[in-house]
Amino acid sequence: MHQKRSQWASNVGFILAAAGSAVGLGNIWKFPGKVGAYGGGAFILCYIIIVALIGFPVMLAELSIGRRTQKNVIGAFRQLDKRFTFVGGIGVLTLFVIMSYYSIVGGWVMKYIWVYASGAHFGAAANPYQTYFADFIAKPVEPLLWGAAFLLLCIYVVVKGVSSGIERVSKVLMPALFLLLLACVIRAVTLPGAKEGLAFMLTIRPESFNGNTLVGALGQAFFSLSVGMGIMVTYGSYVPKDDHLVKSAVSICALDTMVAILAAFAIIPVVFVTLGAEGLGMGGGFAFMALPEVFAGFPGGKLFGLVFFILLFFAALTSAISILESCVAFISEEFHFSRLKSTIALSVPMTVLSAGYSLSQSDARGIKLPWLDFSQGFTMLPMNTVMEKFTDNLMIPLGALAFCLFVGWVWGTKNAVEEIESEGRYPMVMRITWSFIVRFLAPLVIAVILYFTLGRGEG
Ligand code: PHE
Repeated sequence: MHQKRSQWASNVGFILAAAGSAVGLGNIWKFPGKVGAYGGGAFILCYIIIVALIGFPVMLAELSIGRRTQKNVIGAFRQLDKRFTFVGGIGVLTLFVIMSYYSIVGGWVMKYIWVYASGAHFGAAANPYQTYFADFIAKPVEPLLWGAAFLLLCIYVVVKGVSSGIERVSKVLMPALFLLLLACVIRAVTLPGAKEGLAFMLTIRPESFNGNTLVGALGQAFFSLSVGMGIMVTYGSYVPKDDHLVKSAVSICALDTMVAILAAFAIIPVVFVTLGAEGLGMGGGFAFMALPEVFAGFPGGKLFGLVFFILLFFAALTSAISILESCVAFISEEFHFSRLKSTIALSVPMTVLSAGYSLSQSDARGIKLPWLDFSQGFTMLPMNTVMEKFTDNLMIPLGALAFCLFVGWVWGTKNAVEEIESEGRYPMVMRITWSFIVRFLAPLVIAVILYFTLGRGEG
């Protein structure tokens, strides 16, 4: 049975959907934290350079594979060279694992929208915000239900299809996200005392340029741009032949970076005002523990909190949709299942893995079944950290490295350029620079990240 393959209805729709994939928890929650941890302005500068020099060329390579083959990520590699089907497999495996925890964190965001919409009552413990969050994720069942609700929303959009589901939702949510973010930035930079935070972000201290900052910026760039996992292969496969890949990739990278920087402008000044510089170093539960404390500390903070979590929800939803779509495209095309059937077939194992992620942070000691004894709790298995590190530190760089080497040395940059240039020819110098980056510079730089993160035992 041959169905006509889906396509984006418009170029703007494609750009917004791909930017929706790129703009996610990574931009709004992780990026400002990293700016804090890696010394402000220097990190922002490194990040911009890396996006332009490495992130953008790799994104273009992925898009060109997708549009050439018009296939899901595994099918695409198989079509270009059977021996390298496994490269697509790396992407799908990474996405599967990311989706399992992204939906749980998406569920946390929904819970916090609920908390803020119902008046932001965090209780009267000594550290109310930390205690509230810790108690919430320690519950065995509630986080799972929120996670399931988030996954169901993604399923709904993905089953609706590429242009009438994903594209339509992105065209509403992305502009809405942008406006909400602007409102947050205006509130943040006009707070009394915001100057200190702004100065921190805008000052470039030379001593902050070091290997750590660079490695941090590289890892963040891949995750944030959604490259190295085949998302852009899948989204590229729905791009009509006469659309501009280069201009689209420039827009996607620019939007993603702009949102990350705006998010830093919305968050860092407020953190400085209420918690001081140390507030930035909180890591993991930052959005759920530090920010509610921050929001409670200034007039209008509760409303700011509600807007912030809605924003985070939009960002997380469009990213999660892209992850699910890439896996669904694989199942439906390779096994000839309908989109609905493929989504269900995927959601079952995904939910099991999600439950593992969520329960590994929970305090399930209360549960005792006759045939299983949870008296030690699931917290014995640090599945949450293992899953995040597995994807961020190992699989994403490995995927990006394999994609570059494949395009650079197996399929060949000549073929890729031919695909990219179906929209019109580019100057020779651009072609040569791009080929050089994909063949030499990007693989080298990615190999260095892998060496640093794994070699230091952080993998
Ligand atoms: N880029 C998204 C973010 O910044 C995350 C993501 C990862 C999306 C992998 C798709 C695939 O949060």
